[in-house]
Amino acid sequence: MTQTRAPHDGHHEHGHHQQRGADSGQAEILDLDAEVLAEHIAAITKWLPLKSGPRQIVDLASGTGAGTFALLERFPEAHVTAVDASPGHLQRLREKACARGVGEHVRTVLADLDDATWPDLGTPDLVWASASMHHMADPDHALRTVRDLLAPDGLFAVVELAGLPRFLPENAPADRPGLEDRVHAATDRFHAEHVPHRGADWGPMLNTAGFAVAGELTVAVDIDGSRNAAIGRYALGALQRIRGAAAAELAAEDLTALDRLLDTSSPHSILRRDDLAVRTERTVWAARRN
Ligand SMILES: C[S@@+](CC[C@H](N)C(=O)[O-])C[C@H]1O[C@@H](n2cnc3c(N)ncnc32)[C@H](O)[C@@H]1O
Repeated sequence: MTQTRAPHDGHHEHGHHQQRGADSGQAEILDLDAEVLAEHIAAITKWLPLKSGPRQIVDLASGTGAGTFALLERFPEAHVTAVDASPGHLQRLREKACARGVGEHVRTVLADLDDATWPDLGTPDLVWASASMHHMADPDHALRTVRDLLAPDGLFAVVELAGLPRFLPENAPADRPGLEDRVHAATDRFHAEHVPHRGADWGPMLNTAGFAVAGELTVAVDIDGSRNAAIGRYALGALQRIRGAAAAELAAEDLTALDRLLDTSSPHSILRRDDLAVRTERTVWAARRN
């Protein structure tokens, strides 16, 4: 397994890029997301309208490897190049690859995909970008760069989130029902400014960038928390991460109620609830070059 450093080592701390200090918190969430949504991600890799098993895969903005490992499970013969701007995420991905015995099938590339020129990523027959494209400062440029990169008959899979998952019942917590919706609404302005393409319909943008969409699939996620102990930790981590963006816009009573849920020593901690679920949607567009 190798790691390549792109010529423009892209871990700038501005705009759409992740802050170094935030990486480890994000890594936990990405790992929990991969664990909790494993069956749904597997359903997406199974659905991909491929003409034959891919040999060379690029996982764009791979994070800690949710897609990389799901794809290697589906296509064990393949080699995956995982690209991300976070050295911490890539290190974690490499450690996982070694632990799973697939180190020889994984190459990591540290790169800022907002750079005008990308490092050499080979000629993949599958490019996978999950919850990635909405992080690009210029998504159209990124889509066109993928188009130029892809093998002539290759497939580009763009996976997008409907938003962050919901974990609490609508009538929770008892003293502030509907809190979770209000927390999300309080982050709308932040997200509109920082990740305006999150939840976007990528079909028209793929067409504009010179792709033909071969298929689109939306996978509904509704997982009962009692089935999976990781869901409490996932809910805690996700709400901890959006608290910062929501705090300034939330009513004081809502912020107090949120902090009670986030206080792991409180009897009201989200970790102690037995009524959690994960409710969200993932949509995938599979596209070929025109
Ligand atoms: C929401 S995470 C998704 C990770 C992974 N694809 C998954 O499905 O779990 C977004 C990822 O994009 C990376 N990222 C954001 N901006 C980037 C950029 N300009 N160049 C490369 N990676 C970037 C982040 O470091 C993070 O790993």
